[in-house]
Amino acid sequence: MKSAGSLTAVRLFLKEKMMTERYEIVKNYIYDKLTAVEPPKSRNEGLRHITAVSQYAILLANIRGENAELAGIAGLFHDLYAYATGIRKEHAKGGAHMAKDWLDQTDLFTKEEKEAIVGAVYFHSEKGTVHLPLDEILKDADVLDHILMNPGAFIGKEKERAEKLMEELHFA
Ligand SMILES: [Fe+2]
Repeated sequence: MKSAGSLTAVRLFLKEKMMTERYEIVKNYIYDKLTAVEPPKSRNEGLRHITAVSQYAILLANIRGENAELAGIAGLFHDLYAYATGIRKEHAKGGAHMAKDWLDQTDLFTKEEKEAIVGAVYFHSEKGTVHLPLDEILKDADVLDHILMNPGAFIGKEKERAEKLMEELHFA
């Protein structure tokens, strides 16, 4: 049971670490794009998966001491291309280009922040390779959603990552 003090700390944590104005701006942009997706089944799954991965990325970034805002924003962008176009092939690279174009237009992020977000989106399909900490957070957040939505369905390159992640998160 949490004490009142720790609940206040949680609220402050949420305010400072998660609900930044920039996060909200990106989320509104992504949600606008996703609400135009047809058919409704793809739209709903896109909204669900992208939201879940963004939140898991925020969670993992906090656990690992990385930048939660950038992790959450990378999560919002990560599958936008796939859902917006219906094309899965090379969707990570397509998504990285989409993210870069939009981020360059908005002028909300520094060059380094943009590179971190775009890089994470670009590499997120490469689950069998290890990249930078933020890239790894996005890949793991994506795998975590796969674990929770479809337990036991791991094959190939996601299996090892899924097992390590379950150990880190103390899953039984
Ligand atoms: Fe994904």
